[in-house]
Amino acid sequence: MTELVIRDADAADIPAIHRLIESAYRGESSRAGWTTEADLLTGQRTDPDELAEIVADPEQAMLTAWDGEDLLACIRIQRQPDGAGYFGMLSVSPTRQASGLGRRMVAAAEDAMARRFGARLIRISVFPQRDTLIAWYERLGYADTGRTLAFDYGNLRLGKALRDDLYFVVMEKALA
Ligand SMILES: CC(C)(COP(=O)(O)OP(=O)(O)OC[C@H]1O[C@@H](n2cnc3c(N)ncnc32)[C@H](O)[C@@H]1OP(=O)(O)O)[C@@H](O)C(=O)NCCC(=O)NCCS
Repeated sequence: MTELVIRDADAADIPAIHRLIESAYRGESSRAGWTTEADLLTGQRTDPDELAEIVADPEQAMLTAWDGEDLLACIRIQRQPDGAGYFGMLSVSPTRQASGLGRRMVAAAEDAMARRFGARLIRISVFPQRDTLIAWYERLGYADTGRTLAFDYGNLRLGKALRDDLYFVVMEKALA
């Protein structure tokens, strides 16, 4: 592997980001990784229009990690109304997982949100069924707030649910 470059995505990167996110979150390709939403949802995780909105929004960005021309990972960052930073769409290519890249992307997102948005608190939302993922976030310093968010079953942009008990737990980490 050549040296990894982490940079903000622009509009030209959207097709590659879309392929990466869908491959990591959904369907058989995602099962090559150690954690996936394939047992919870089918259909899309996002679409090119949503990704275009993210890269055009000054309150958001998509950080991307490149090995030459190959996109290996991405993470969406977002300023929240209360001043916290939020990240999502964290994706590592399923065949490149479990070598520290996910951890590196979370660190890059935390650093970017502290510098750009002045965030002192980072927030994420996770399906409670994903216990190994939650354990990983706990090792990264995130704690369950006890708060939950409803899953929007009517929004097929998020995918088509395979079960009727989906919701999110909200986890947070205070930055040092
Ligand atoms: C979540 C994700 C980004 C992690 O990326 P990654 O590159 O594998 O992350 P890292 O290599 O930094 O860390 C992997 C961790 O999982 C652990 N792990 C590896 N295989 C595992 C397994 N089979 N079961 C449980 N944990 C496992 C590793 O020990 C490591 O933990 P550590 O950092 O405490 O040592 C990646 O799995 C992914 O893209 N998943 C699909 C999309 C997704 O679910 N995103 C998050 C939604 S909120």
